[in-house]
Amino acid sequence: MKVIVTKNYQAMSDYATKHVLEQLAKKPDSVLGLATGSTPIGLYDRLIKAHQSGLSFQQVTTFNLDEYQDLGPNHPNSYRHVMDDVLFDHIDINKDQTYVPGGEDDKYQSACEKYEALIKDHGPIDLQVLGLGLNGHIGFNEPGTPFDTLTHVIELDESTRKQNQRFFDSLDEVPTHAITMGIKTIMKTKDIMVLASGEEKKEAVKQLVEGKVTTTFPCSILQIHPNVTVIIDEAASQALQPDSITEKA
Ligand code: F6R
Repeated sequence: MKVIVTKNYQAMSDYATKHVLEQLAKKPDSVLGLATGSTPIGLYDRLIKAHQSGLSFQQVTTFNLDEYQDLGPNHPNSYRHVMDDVLFDHIDINKDQTYVPGGEDDKYQSACEKYEALIKDHGPIDLQVLGLGLNGHIGFNEPGTPFDTLTHVIELDESTRKQNQRFFDSLDEVPTHAITMGIKTIMKTKDIMVLASGEEKKEAVKQLVEGKVTTTFPCSILQIHPNVTVIIDEAASQALQPDSITEKA
């Protein structure tokens, strides 16, 4: 696990963008795994700029980590809608090659199986972008999720619902369930980039990098993945031992 500490959010987003651009230069038809949430917005802004400067995403395929259950793709807070808004509508990617689990499918068990089959058909995922929940979740794999899970439906932790309330008018409107790639799905990706910014993430970052590998902090499993780059800003790095840091960029 490489740990890169950058000065601030902007520098974290710059570093992350460089990593994605290197991947696309190496393999223009890369399969990217994408996250929603606040953290990767700077990365997506920069990818849009790269497109405006000539980079094409026409050969790229994407798989998003997760989706709220029951919102439907037209709901402004559905991750399908958010991804269109923050990235896909602004680049030349073929929308048919951008996958988000669940979608309009209300038969969630078959939607999970379908998503795994799609990843198998198009994959493996070359580069997976992950954010980090305050409780150590990756995707929506909440604490206690077994490490051998594939795409599945999960009941969101109250803490996660409260954390995400900022995107909704009230807590009641935040869905109680989501469909998420499983931990095994994530661990099968070839390369993983974890992004975290801000002091509130420092304990989750410590568990990710230095904690015991335990389902109590799902992100800790990433310690045994062969190819993980953790890109964080100084604020998020505050609880780390100095020798855990690979590079200050
Ligand atoms: C989003 C996702 C979540 C977020 C995490 C951090 O698709 O899978 O794991 O990455 O909750 O969210 P932010 O970036 O909003 O702090």
